[in-house]
Amino acid sequence: MNVGAPQPSAALPATIAIDGPAASGKSTIGHALAQRLGYLYFDTGVVYRAVTWLALTRGVPISDEVAVAQLALTVPIDVVAPADACDGRLATVLAGGEDVTWAVRQPQVDANVSVVSAYPRVRDALKMHQRRIGHAGRVVMVGRDIGTVIMPDADLKIYLDASPAERARRRCEEGRERGLPVSYEEILAAMRRRDAFDSGRRTAPLRAAPDAQVVDSTDLSAPEVLQQIMGLIVAWQEARD
Ligand code: DC
Repeated sequence: MNVGAPQPSAALPATIAIDGPAASGKSTIGHALAQRLGYLYFDTGVVYRAVTWLALTRGVPISDEVAVAQLALTVPIDVVAPADACDGRLATVLAGGEDVTWAVRQPQVDANVSVVSAYPRVRDALKMHQRRIGHAGRVVMVGRDIGTVIMPDADLKIYLDASPAERARRRCEEGRERGLPVSYEEILAAMRRRDAFDSGRRTAPLRAAPDAQVVDSTDLSAPEVLQQIMGLIVAWQEARD
């Protein structure tokens, strides 16, 4: 049997959640998997970015949790397939009807999004947007709390992990490729601090859902991780037979 090839005649998991710590390979693998299956790639960080962008452009103070959450509740936010755009986007992000795909990557959004994403009211308001997109199906959702909080009913839940040393090595390599001065020791220390913060926070702490399939990518290449996940999809199909 070819383990890496899902049966074309059998149903596929309609919603696939991929969670995991920083630099575990979630985005690379999530995007590759979505492409392989012809699914929407939904990097859920973009909804937090869209609200941050809305607050910045509408003059809502980032420090005002209630006002920022009100934006998340009242302004339509959507993530859709990139259609014919050939500018390298992996999905199109819409906020208030405007295409904000690239605007949400601006440094000002980078600088404010972690404050916004830590607000419990904002997280709660953004649940409905994420669930609406997820429940439409044929979607790979990548984040930190998808399997545990946002889509506990996802058909297939994957928790992608890797050792802190390997994740720091990957971040170092990315930095060097972009010509940035990076220190492995500093990146590793920052990675450990962020892991402790993400796992220890009260709202949506980073952890694997009890029924998630844990994939450790420490010693695997991206194609090997993808192959392992295709194997999980085959197992999912077989369990439904
Ligand atoms: O992955 P990113 O940099 O685009 O994420 C933006 C922010 O949102 C970052 O502060 C992490 C946070 N985030 C989150 O809290 N939960 C998610 N499911 C995705 C991202």
